[in-house]
Amino acid sequence: MIKLPGLIDPHVHFREPGQTHKEDWDTGTSAALAGGFTMVLAMPNTKPPIFDADTLEMALKAAKQKARCDYAQFLGAGPDNADIVPSLAYKAAGLKMYLDSTFGELRLNDMTLWMPHFEKYPKQYPIVAHSESRSMAAAILFAAIYDRPIHIAHVSLKEEILLIKAAKEKGIKVTCEVTPHHLFLPSPNPPPNSQNLGEDKGGGWGRSEVRPRLATQADVEALWQNMDVIDCFATDHAPHTLEEKDSENPPPGFPGLETALPLLLTAVHDGRLRIEDIIAKMYTNPRKIFSLPEQPETWIEVDENAEYEIKAADQFTRCGWTPFEGWKVKGRVTRVVLRGRDAFKDGKVLAEQGFGKNVRG
Ligand code: DOR
Ligand code: ZN
Repeated sequence: MIKLPGLIDPHVHFREPGQTHKEDWDTGTSAALAGGFTMVLAMPNTKPPIFDADTLEMALKAAKQKARCDYAQFLGAGPDNADIVPSLAYKAAGLKMYLDSTFGELRLNDMTLWMPHFEKYPKQYPIVAHSESRSMAAAILFAAIYDRPIHIAHVSLKEEILLIKAAKEKGIKVTCEVTPHHLFLPSPNPPPNSQNLGEDKGGGWGRSEVRPRLATQADVEALWQNMDVIDCFATDHAPHTLEEKDSENPPPGFPGLETALPLLLTAVHDGRLRIEDIIAKMYTNPRKIFSLPEQPETWIEVDENAEYEIKAADQFTRCGWTPFEGWKVKGRVTRVVLRGRDAFKDGKVLAEQGFGKNVRG
């Protein structure tokens, strides 16, 4: 048995308010506990998006009633809320800026819309950027100009991890996260793009749709080779139902909360990763980057020798599938103790709805 700290996932999508047929605060936090996470930071691209006092209240009310693990909620940067969000910063996980197109309505196209957010959002709270390729370079330049920290979500490309490495060497306050799917799944051949999605209507490619897209084997290898540049592992748990994924217009996103730790423990078993990397990138660094409080009397227990096959049928997420179906992994979460209580044990979620606390509360 290995004992680890309660893991922190700084990037999940729980779909409440608005799309609870995909996930809600109950099923999402159940999946978190089953995956060894005791704290999650929820993204704002819900329906409606979380972008002002009323919508933040809406999300926090649902979370308060339903969450089984600890949490905080991100605010979304919109075209006209740069004057509002700073006053809400103390109640939020951070500010999420969508600088490239993805699922949901939040998007800042024009760089003039980025400026007031970089200028006004309090520097002690993080700005997280969904920024791919060249918009990542632009986001890092903004962080340098305004001399404030920026956290880059889901890095997937070689050019991106090398850019972040160079920016860190220059002393720019940039940190980053990588998802398990970008570490373990190279893009299928041919890569899914809108063209072959059209040719392959109603199946197949829809399940590999994710933003950022799955990348080439060379990109995947560059992430592994620059493990020391990666600050956090984050799941980007983005549940959509199988029916939606197999439809003509498949939304991007993979569930990930229940597969992240087993996949990473398997990599430790295979000698590709150290257990210290897991602790640093799933506990110590996210705590530091997002200024998260300690969870007293909180830990998880893992049977590092348990071998099994990943199966969607065993998961707590509502979305009903996983891109890792049938993968053989080594390492199972057997127990999660959260603030002195057994929250998950031997396959059962024991923490009740409402047990989770807002860590910015
Ligand atoms: O694949 C993705 N899905 N990427 C994102 O940025 C959003 C997410 C979602 O919310 O479904
Ligand atoms: Zn995301």
